[in-house]
Amino acid sequence: MFDKKQAVTGAFGFTGGYIARQLLEKGQKVVTLTNSPQRNSPLQGRVEVRPLSFDDVPRLAESLRGVEVLYNTYWVRFNHGESTFANAVRQSLALFEAAKLAGVERVVHISIANASTDSPFEYYSAKASVDYALKASGLCHAIVRPAALFGAGGILLNNIAWALRRLPVFAMFGTGKYHMQPVFVEDLANLMLAQGSLREDTDVLALGPEDFMYKDLVATIGKAIGCNRRVMHLPPQLGYLGAKAIGFLMRDVFATQEEIGGLMADLLHVPGAAPTCPTRFTDWLAKNADSLGRSYGNELGRRRDKTKRY
Ligand SMILES: NC(=O)c1ccc[n+]([C@@H]2O[C@H](COP(=O)([O-])OP(=O)(O)OC[C@H]3O[C@@H](n4cnc5c(N)ncnc54)[C@H](OP(=O)(O)O)[C@@H]3O)[C@@H](O)[C@H]2O)c1
Repeated sequence: MFDKKQAVTGAFGFTGGYIARQLLEKGQKVVTLTNSPQRNSPLQGRVEVRPLSFDDVPRLAESLRGVEVLYNTYWVRFNHGESTFANAVRQSLALFEAAKLAGVERVVHISIANASTDSPFEYYSAKASVDYALKASGLCHAIVRPAALFGAGGILLNNIAWALRRLPVFAMFGTGKYHMQPVFVEDLANLMLAQGSLREDTDVLALGPEDFMYKDLVATIGKAIGCNRRVMHLPPQLGYLGAKAIGFLMRDVFATQEEIGGLMADLLHVPGAAPTCPTRFTDWLAKNADSLGRSYGNELGRRRDKTKRY
């Protein structure tokens, strides 16, 4: 099945790194399309590197020539400068057009659980637009939908641990009685590769086996890392101001209003859905408690310094 080259967007990044590593371990040739060709990564020298030249579809298609499966991780976390959801939608469509021109056999694309064109949150509505475009493209495809990810290099759960380590009290948005169903990034990569070997259109959830109430997740992390902080329940707007202050100090965006809204609207889990990925966050946490949250995961820092390792 895997005779040709496989393409991964962002192989020097988070999910793309795990996908590319698993492909290499299976003896595959990998080309990465990236905005950060010089990023420090153990995969440097092991994968062919091409630019994510969204404004030049023929060049993008040339980079995808001879590719069997394109694993697409490309997205932006929030609107910032030129990096906007609207641009990410356009760029994703350009990538699909190039894949079609290049004769790529299958696209395995990461979307998100609960994507919807009706969503009040642009992250989710823009993701849904890309999903629809891929479905309408005629490309053989898989859409894979995680809710929230954990693993080395991830930001979300790492920065909860970082806040617990650094701050005397933990500010909870509202009651904390909303959910998060984290999935291990290596399980996601595994699921993506399994989807890569199929030749029918699929749309699958990537959900871990544990579904936490957010307040319990924070307490679980606090206990594991030895930082059981007092929790202060804040109105979300006030919590957002706190997040803005952390962002200002760290020269980052710690959490956006949208992210807080999506979390509180329970979009980071899928109630009643069967888990599709095996690794329990609590098991991973027990093994990684010493390192989780030791350093801050800086989203904008990764964009400012494109050589910095994830
Ligand atoms: N992380 C999570 O918790 C989570 C949860 C649910 C779904 N997802 C989805 O998983 C996919 C991968 O996420 P990830 O966390 O693994 O992302 P990532 O590795 O940080 O980035 C993935 C790709 O997008 C590019 N990119 C990211 N932000 C960018 C920006 N502001 N400007 C230009 N390019 C940018 C990266 O560029 P480079 O080539 O320069 O690295 C890379 O090619 C996304 O589709 C995301 O929506 C993630």
